[in-house]
Amino acid sequence: MLSGSYGVKHRTDVEVTRTQVAIVGAGPAGLVLAHLLALRGFDSVLLEARSRHHVEHRVRAGVLEHPTVQLLCEIGAGERLRREGLEHGGISLRFDRADHRIDFAALTGRSITVYGQQEVVKDLIAARLARGGEIFFDVDDVRLSGIDSDEPEVAFTDGGGVARILRAAVVAGCDGFHGVCRPYVPPGALRVFERDYPFAWLGILAKAAPAQEEVAYAHGDRGFALASMRSPDVTRLYLQVAPEDAIDGWSDDRIWEELNARLAVDGGAGLNEGPILERGIAAMRSFVVEPMRHGRLFLAGDAAHIVPPTGAKGMNLAVADVAVLAEALERFFATGRTDLLDGYSDRCLRRVWRAEHFSWWMTSMLHLAPGADPFERRLQLSQLRYVVSSPAASTSLAENYVGLPYGS
Ligand code: APR
Ligand code: PHB
Repeated sequence: MLSGSYGVKHRTDVEVTRTQVAIVGAGPAGLVLAHLLALRGFDSVLLEARSRHHVEHRVRAGVLEHPTVQLLCEIGAGERLRREGLEHGGISLRFDRADHRIDFAALTGRSITVYGQQEVVKDLIAARLARGGEIFFDVDDVRLSGIDSDEPEVAFTDGGGVARILRAAVVAGCDGFHGVCRPYVPPGALRVFERDYPFAWLGILAKAAPAQEEVAYAHGDRGFALASMRSPDVTRLYLQVAPEDAIDGWSDDRIWEELNARLAVDGGAGLNEGPILERGIAAMRSFVVEPMRHGRLFLAGDAAHIVPPTGAKGMNLAVADVAVLAEALERFFATGRTDLLDGYSDRCLRRVWRAEHFSWWMTSMLHLAPGADPFERRLQLSQLRYVVSSPAASTSLAENYVGLPYGS
């Protein structure tokens, strides 16, 4: 480690560290990237604005595609996932008060695994620290400079108040949608594509056994609902609500009543109710920036794109991005060749846009848009009936859901 004066007059006590990749953000994207680089023998330093406890307990989605599970196992972060993750061979689409199963195993030979994102994050952090990796939590005032040069820098204040600078060959902006990295790209150099949806999701985590074995997506006259789970005694449930709704307006009774009504199937038992452990309302948005790179700054995961949660693609896309980035960085560090780095954005964006389409399509098919007219409702129902009855249509949903192979 190079330490000492950095030579900037008003800053005398700055710790300067050299590393190959400065990674901003210790979510799934940043953490998986650090692991992939370490496995190839390259070093990186991770900066995270929040505390370790915060990132390990932030409740997010929890469906891992088949390629994500494979990659987490390959990097040695799959041991608890294999033990505690719930492997599912399908999902159900619920409408007309009936369950319609999409059999992923039969249609694609693949499965998905239900395992909370914060559990993935816990496993990745533990494995990273056990292998001597460096993660600065609670950092503040992160600033980038020189992204157009071949030695960009990331300045920050660490959790103990020490001013530091990372000098790197590359900066990986893995700092999520609200991160600091993306705004460093000059406005004219990025093209933004986005859609806001006229509804939001109210999500709860409840101490109650899931009432169904697999993830169920329900479409009906009262709006969309989703039943998922985290373990045999913790259930995760979502309701479509208005984007302007406040969580205070949703009492426990109202939440359970609405969930029961929207998820009801003829002849089925109701939900198992229990104490609500966590609750929140999240807006829904589709968002992509192109390209995902400027100079030596590479954006990955939510820093570059957002999907609505219908279909649970967010974490999976983040992992797929950094798999591509790690391969490109390996070529660059080992040979000096920039061809894979130059192709990073295009290669990621192919998969990103597939997931953008899939998430938008699932969202549009399942939700009740305010003011939707009877024509649109009939189209949604027709599409749902087609998806569950045509092998071609269900295979299309299934292969997107379990995750298309990397590079396709
Ligand atoms: N400096 C350092 N870290 C930052 C900064 C900053 N200025 N700003 C944000 N971060 C951190 C956040 O606290 C967060 O831990 O960057 C991390 C980004 O992680 P995620 O938001 O989890 O994004 P990503 O790794 O791309 O994973 C995408 O996360 O948001 C969900 O639904 C999304 O499942 C998807 C997944
Ligand atoms: C979840 O379990 O949190 C979940 C499942 C499926 C989704 C989104 C979230 O589409």
